[in-house]
Amino acid sequence: MSTLPAGLELRPLHIPSSIDAPDAADFRDMVRLRNLVYAEISGHDDSSMPADELLPLYQPQPEMKRYAWIAVFRGEVVGRVGLDLPQEDGARTAFWLIELRRSSWGHGIGRAAFAEIECVARDEGRTVLQSWAEHPAAEGPQLAAPTGFGAVPEDHAARFLRASGCTLEQIVRVSALPLAGARPHLEALLAEAEAAASGYRVVQWTLPTPEEFVDAFAWMKSRMVTDAPSADLEFDEEVWDAGRVRRYEAGYLDAGRHMLVTAAQHVDSGELAAFNELVIGKDRTAATSQEDTLVVSTHRGHRLGMLVKCAGLLAWYDVAPDSPRVLTYNAEENRPMLSINERIGFRPLSYEGVWKKVLA
Ligand SMILES: CC(C)(COP(=O)(O)OP(=O)(O)OC[C@H]1O[C@@H](n2cnc3c(N)ncnc32)[C@H](O)[C@@H]1OP(=O)(O)O)[C@@H](O)C(=O)NCCC(=O)NCCS
Repeated sequence: MSTLPAGLELRPLHIPSSIDAPDAADFRDMVRLRNLVYAEISGHDDSSMPADELLPLYQPQPEMKRYAWIAVFRGEVVGRVGLDLPQEDGARTAFWLIELRRSSWGHGIGRAAFAEIECVARDEGRTVLQSWAEHPAAEGPQLAAPTGFGAVPEDHAARFLRASGCTLEQIVRVSALPLAGARPHLEALLAEAEAAASGYRVVQWTLPTPEEFVDAFAWMKSRMVTDAPSADLEFDEEVWDAGRVRRYEAGYLDAGRHMLVTAAQHVDSGELAAFNELVIGKDRTAATSQEDTLVVSTHRGHRLGMLVKCAGLLAWYDVAPDSPRVLTYNAEENRPMLSINERIGFRPLSYEGVWKKVLA
């Protein structure tokens, strides 16, 4: 392991069995710093999560090996560090994060944490390290993505990432839709999509997924990493079966989070052709998150993306009537999906860079 700056401890994160357990203090600190760092960067609390809702996502899963640390500097917890290793056969990728509160930047903590991440990734036989970083809009020099779509300011995080040997590969647009007053527009768009999508019907469920749809849902989930635009990033192909769907669902259900899945079913074959996920935590007055959306490649061209999004958002008024807005994340080069979102009324809020380092 490399030498750490004086006063820095990278302490492996202990995962408690319950958030109220006496040994849960470090986990609670990790979540506190997570939320603080996101608020410092974005200027809002929409990405905040309570510790008890995050804990189920840290329980061991056969599909992901997870390393996590808290950064303790001069006796104070200042951030968190993480490394996720997909467990697919032959996996090459590793996904990492270093999130430090602003007052602790510039002391070499990031550099030391990245050295540790690289060391563990190498020991684990991983060669492709990837990470997402939000870069708030700022004046000054900008760094363009090689996709030709989007740029981010050359801010402290970008300088750190480049100095660490990472390259910018893709821009992700974070967009928000205010829910108040959107219903008439959504109804009009839904009617238009329904007219174009003859031969399909909408099916919706809250978790857990009904037994009859589990295998089809598993297959659509497996297509997310293969079918979404991924620039020059690398993703190991994921195998999903019913067991993996149930473990994925437990991450929401055990946390008391609510997910609505809206799918389009091809009437003649019974196949599921598209889906969309909307999620909110126990605080139903918080922002909603639009998670995965996919139209299966053989079913494209029937407005199914618009269909499942509008049907989901309209149903959401009954699930979380006090949620003020919906957030969504899309690759800046994903024009078909951005066009749907823009028509619905989503507007850009901020941009993330997706960074990659290939280890020799
Ligand atoms: C980005 C972040 C992790 C950097 O951590 P940090 O502790 O401030 O960084 P360090 O003090 O180790 O490094 C800072 C400086 O050293 C440089 N540096 C870092 N690693 C280096 C290396 N291997 N070789 C040469 N220079 C290096 C950086 O470019 C930077 O220089 P600058 O001050 O001229 O911009 C931190 O700012 C942060 O948590 N930001 C918010 C979250 C985020 O964006 N995370 C990144 C991806 S998950």
